[in-house]
Amino acid sequence: MSRGAGSGRPEEPIGIFDSGIGGLTVLREILTIMPSEDVIYLGDTARVPYGIRSPETVEKYAVENTEFLLENRIKLIVVACNTASAVSLDALKKTTKVPVVGVLLPGAEAAVRKTANRRIGVIGTEATIRSMAYQRAIVSIDPEVVVTGVACPLFVPLVEEGWTDGEITRSVAREYLGRLKDSGIDTLVLGCTHYPLLKGVIKDVVGEGIALIDSAVETAKTVRETLEAAGLSRRRNDSPIRRFYVTDDPARFRKVGERFLGRRITCIEKVEIPLTGQAAHR
Ligand code: DGL
Repeated sequence: MSRGAGSGRPEEPIGIFDSGIGGLTVLREILTIMPSEDVIYLGDTARVPYGIRSPETVEKYAVENTEFLLENRIKLIVVACNTASAVSLDALKKTTKVPVVGVLLPGAEAAVRKTANRRIGVIGTEATIRSMAYQRAIVSIDPEVVVTGVACPLFVPLVEEGWTDGEITRSVAREYLGRLKDSGIDTLVLGCTHYPLLKGVIKDVVGEGIALIDSAVETAKTVRETLEAAGLSRRRNDSPIRRFYVTDDPARFRKVGERFLGRRITCIEKVEIPLTGQAAHR
């Protein structure tokens, strides 16, 4: 079945979803380079984290989130969650009419462009690393590249607590990243929404010789290119809309999310997902 409620006009908003707060790092980059776009963001805060769940469960959630966004007449979907991109992007693309951009391929492509010694590291949630999706994407671009993936599950709660620096975070980072340094990589993909907030610590631990690839920055560039190629970019907008939906308490989302987004979150509403018989929002 094909879905897609937008009619593909530049005036329509971009729809973005993530398992919760982390996708705001992607939204932040999108707003930086495309300030005229209207956006609708869905954070599935009632079902976060996705990173410890099975591929089947994550795919089901991703499909339901996509259905919700499509009810809002969007022109493009950004799957801002690395875990959801890793396990469900193909399924979403097959069944959705509007363009779908995930965070995985833009990061993989940027890493292949960057590496000189063809050794790339990827860090992400357990589900992302277990899926081998980054590894497959990188090797499909350049089969000679050796990819080392390491899951860093404690990074997400540390960042949400605001512990983006300090000795505990540094020592967790040393534990996770030691193996990567030994593998001789010269490029490291930050394959999780939360990791851009740990750039400082990660850089210190892996050293200056390893280039960090921020999937959020790369994804924003891909979104811009995709909209331009489809003639869907919005050039002028006197009062751009930023609407936020969450599936659990908006208060925590706002408090933690403003740190991720780097700006105020005002228009925020709790919704039920999956949608029941009649659409929750239009
Ligand atoms: N958004 C998730 C990701 O990028 C991290 C949080 C979670 O596990 O849901 O993989």
